[in-house]
Amino acid sequence: MPMSSSIHHLLNAVPEARRAEAARRYAAHGPALHGCLHSLYGDTPGFEQWYGSLLSAIGELHGARSPALAALDTARAAQPDWFLGQQMLGYCSYVDRFGGDLRGVAKRIPHLQELGVRYLHLLPFLKMREGENDGGFAVASFEEVDPRFGSNADLEALTGDLRSVGISLCADFILNHVADDHAWARGAREGDERLRQFFHVFPDRSQPDAYERALGQVFPQAAPGNFTHVPALAGWAWTTFYPYQWDLNWSNPEVFAAMAATLLRLANRGIEVFRLDSTAFLWKREGTNCMNQPEAHLILQAMRALASIAAPGVLLKAEAIVPMRELPAYFGQPAQPECHIAYHSSLMAAAWGALAEQDAGLVRSVVAGTPPLPPHASWLSYVRCHDDIGWNVLRAEAAEGDHDPQARLAAISRFFAGGEGSFARGEAFQSSDPHAAHGSNGMAASLVGLEDTGSAAISGADSDAEALAMRRLLLLHGLVLGFGALPVLYMGDELGQANDYSFRQRPDRAMDSRWLQRPLLDEQRFAQRHDSSTQAGRVYAALRALVAARQRLPALAAGEPRSLLPAAPAVLALQRGEAFLALYNFSGMSQQFPLQGQWTDAIERRGLSGEITLAPWAMHWLERDN
Ligand code: GLC
Repeated sequence: MPMSSSIHHLLNAVPEARRAEAARRYAAHGPALHGCLHSLYGDTPGFEQWYGSLLSAIGELHGARSPALAALDTARAAQPDWFLGQQMLGYCSYVDRFGGDLRGVAKRIPHLQELGVRYLHLLPFLKMREGENDGGFAVASFEEVDPRFGSNADLEALTGDLRSVGISLCADFILNHVADDHAWARGAREGDERLRQFFHVFPDRSQPDAYERALGQVFPQAAPGNFTHVPALAGWAWTTFYPYQWDLNWSNPEVFAAMAATLLRLANRGIEVFRLDSTAFLWKREGTNCMNQPEAHLILQAMRALASIAAPGVLLKAEAIVPMRELPAYFGQPAQPECHIAYHSSLMAAAWGALAEQDAGLVRSVVAGTPPLPPHASWLSYVRCHDDIGWNVLRAEAAEGDHDPQARLAAISRFFAGGEGSFARGEAFQSSDPHAAHGSNGMAASLVGLEDTGSAAISGADSDAEALAMRRLLLLHGLVLGFGALPVLYMGDELGQANDYSFRQRPDRAMDSRWLQRPLLDEQRFAQRHDSSTQAGRVYAALRALVAARQRLPALAAGEPRSLLPAAPAVLALQRGEAFLALYNFSGMSQQFPLQGQWTDAIERRGLSGEITLAPWAMHWLERDN
């Protein structure tokens, strides 16, 4: 059955009023959908029949889109750059840490508006595994909100409330694995052969051992290895992350069909952005590290095509924590686009690395290695998130200048664990070996040394220490806001919140120090946010000033060109367009920078020209006069 004749499967499932639209979208995106799926699954007997039933499911879900979401689809399909402007700002939090539950999150909308947020990423809130669940990244059901956080009706109400004030809800779509108590895993354990094929299960260690030779480890301490023996399966399940997170077998077309429908059902509840969790790991190939495989990209391209057909208002975001050179592929090709947004984890890690080294070299290399964005796409920039700062993405950059990358990254990791001479209060992640460089944890405020300066009234040396730590916090936020990306603030950072050490008392969390950076929103700091006599108030005001300046500077939109200017080793001089220059001093020493022409400081509103002095850890955003 040729692809063109399968369109009736789609159209028959779509209500009359939407058929012409469906036919148009299928004409534009059907070839990519069919092409990718044929490359992946074309050898499976009955492929075209399977494809027809997939189209019926897509058609039904397209037909089920509410009028409000259908209107959003139309508007966004007509303006595919809607998320690239300098007004776009994200915010990320856990539901319970931010608002208790989904209704509580709705009560926080005024705070998001005050900050200028247009995009809210709520970390996993679908029904999660009982007991340990990796902060909800072990999903027991994609079909219902976790009862602790509310109901599906609460979710739909929240997405509606957010949409009415111009905030898009982003949710994780955890597509690499499900929890071992998800219905598919339970069925497989109970002997259902069909569901066993949803996973990678091996009867003995021979294949796992062969794969392990080339695989990395995500949690080498808490969850070593990539396979877990499951007695009920009489075999070994592939578990890249924790043993209770079973990797899905994407070489099985049934998995694709089930997950595609899942995505569209969630989109129909009003989720506008999907954070495609752990996208790099979707396809397994022996002899490789099973990351970034070409088939993983085909899966994502097929997902994009089906979203473009059934829910074009939706954005897909790649959470691929991979070296810079692997990242652009997640945007796809012009004829076959993939994700709209991709986390720029190299930028994030390099910025912290530069802070530790008091040298902008790492971040300069990453900026130089960042290609221009393809049309209608954006990087995602961030200072901190719920995960560790993973150092491994920087191996190539850390090797530049004849360095031993391992030793260099390990030194950075030690710095953030509060090594000698360090202002940072963080911890190394998944390694107690001081020569290893895996990741580092901690809230931004703690990692820049703000934690120790306290929150009470301060004076003298304390006040200097606070001012310097504040500068470091703003330096990193300035870079993230000025880079040319969709910047996402991490809950609590706007208030300078410090580490939360209470996870150590919880046996289900104690082994995972990422909980350091997952505090409850500090109500006291929140109440102080407009009071400049408090530390929270000072951080909040300074950050808002940056956000406000960014909003009025079109040079800071995602796609505006960026170039590096020559500067002292500690200084990153980043020009955006023709008339905007950002200067970031990563060292604790003053630095000089020779300005060409007349400039105005975008925050302080004062004129500058000639050789200027950058104070320790200072940042400046400059607009060219005329
Ligand atoms: C992503 C999440 C992380 C989680 C992992 C497994 O990397 O950000 O928190 O542990 O996926 O789902």
